[in-house]
Amino acid sequence: MEPEVYPIAALAADLRRLCAEIADEHELLAAIRPLARRSALDRNSWFEERMNFPDTQQGFSVYRLHEEADHSLAILAVSWLPHRGTPPHDHGTWGVVTGVDGLERNDFYRRLDDRSRPGYAEIKCTASRIFGPGEVLTMSTGLIHSVHNDTNHLSLSLHIYGHHLNYTGRSQFDPEQRREIPFLLKLATE
Ligand SMILES: [Fe+2]
Repeated sequence: MEPEVYPIAALAADLRRLCAEIADEHELLAAIRPLARRSALDRNSWFEERMNFPDTQQGFSVYRLHEEADHSLAILAVSWLPHRGTPPHDHGTWGVVTGVDGLERNDFYRRLDDRSRPGYAEIKCTASRIFGPGEVLTMSTGLIHSVHNDTNHLSLSLHIYGHHLNYTGRSQFDPEQRREIPFLLKLATE
């Protein structure tokens, strides 16, 4: 069966409506979940050939599909090279990630220190889960995770954030050095 056509503009309109209607973040994420899956399954509405060639330096590439003028409601496609990933990081906003192609391992971390020392952070990995096509990960504001493509193939996922990640002041973490430092994405040029 062909997936239902669900253009990014329609997803963005639905997201705007839900954000205006639902104040509670947990409820909002639950409402976005089925829409994120619908959009991920309808890859023909947004996939571009260049997504098959992620940035070899960064290990992944981020493609902007939609962003409001105030940088809210960022819809991004992210493709990952084999055996590459991210350091542990937070987002400074909520996020909904849906698998499209391949497998992505998510490691989830708990912050242990009291956040009183700038640039210092202790985090500990507490859970791990592999997400495949059509599987949705909802992330509350403040959640810390890392993403790895452990396979020999590209992976691709569809990401929705409450705010574009380069405008939230979010962090990446170095668990060994116990450091917290800013985390900015290099976006693929359009
Ligand atoms: Fe993330």
